[in-house]
Amino acid sequence: MTYTFADLENKINMAINELDYEKEPNSLFQPISYILSLGGKRLRPILAYMSTNLFDDDVDKTASPAIALEIFHNFSLLHDDLMDKASIRRGHPTVHKKWNANTAVLSGDAMLIDAYKHIVKVPANVLPEVLEVFTTTAMEVCKGQQYDMDFEKRLDVKESEYIEMIRLKTAVLIAASMKIGAILGGASKKDAGKLYEFGINIGLAFQLKDDLLDVYGDQDNFGKQIGGDILSNKKTFLLIKALEITNKENNAILQKWITAQDFDSGAKINAVKKIYDELNLESLTYKLIKKYYLAGLNCLLEVNVTEDRKEELLTYTNNLMNREK
Ligand code: IPE
Ligand code: IPE
Ligand code: MG
Ligand code: MG
Ligand code: MG
Repeated sequence: MTYTFADLENKINMAINELDYEKEPNSLFQPISYILSLGGKRLRPILAYMSTNLFDDDVDKTASPAIALEIFHNFSLLHDDLMDKASIRRGHPTVHKKWNANTAVLSGDAMLIDAYKHIVKVPANVLPEVLEVFTTTAMEVCKGQQYDMDFEKRLDVKESEYIEMIRLKTAVLIAASMKIGAILGGASKKDAGKLYEFGINIGLAFQLKDDLLDVYGDQDNFGKQIGGDILSNKKTFLLIKALEITNKENNAILQKWITAQDFDSGAKINAVKKIYDELNLESLTYKLIKKYYLAGLNCLLEVNVTEDRKEELLTYTNNLMNREK
């Protein structure tokens, strides 16, 4: 049978509700339950389940990697919010704001360890392969996060460097979720590889959309502070393009805001956004999103299962591309 998005979302949410963390020290485990209870799209476990379901009716074999992937993702958010000085996540205070920086570091570390505890529960015959994908991916996310931070300090980041950075920080985990799901479902190497490629493409599109929503989203819906990327000089596609194609005058304005030490946050966000608007960068970004989405669809076409089995995954990814949160 084909599980619907709602079935799978329900599965992962139930599994998260049933996680039973130790009680003491409360200050280590409570932030873990807190971040996991705030919801989110549950994208990675859902994609893992859907990938298994392309090849196999029994998706419950993917339960342990699915939860491992969600815990890993949430670990990365604890550290990411600290690194990005973000104060809101999923509409609530971030862990380092509600508690403190040390808590975000150590509870995050504990979550990474917990993710491994779950991933190793896969059947022994697939364990080496699954661990290899998971570990390689985890290191790539670190590399991507470091590039992201390094790029804050640079003005000459090229579009190709940006794409490689978001491939590492975001796309590989989405791709790995699909590959691991496929492996559990007994997919051929070729099909698992095609799903990985599909995941990379939709992952790139996903991060481009995240960058767009960071400027043009609705804060209540998006659950994160709008303009955060502008304030921290993140080299998003928008900023890289703006620096590349704008006239001398606006380039000087951008440089002034990027190098400013003391500034009014609202004024900086408005000034940068005004330049993005003038250059029509929102629609340029949508074009690139579409390009990666279509490239992803071409990879999915090559996966050797009947088209009806791909329907749920196609609907889900299509909705994801049009997301507002
Ligand atoms: C946020 O991921 C981090 C990015 C890679 C952009 P999600 O947008 O999947 O966050 P949640 O889990 O739905 O909150
Ligand atoms: C997130 O990139 C990537 C990881 C969490 C690894 P962002 O920094 O853009 O994610 P958000 O916008 O804070 O969710
Ligand atoms: Mg962030
Ligand atoms: Mg970040
Ligand atoms: Mg972001």
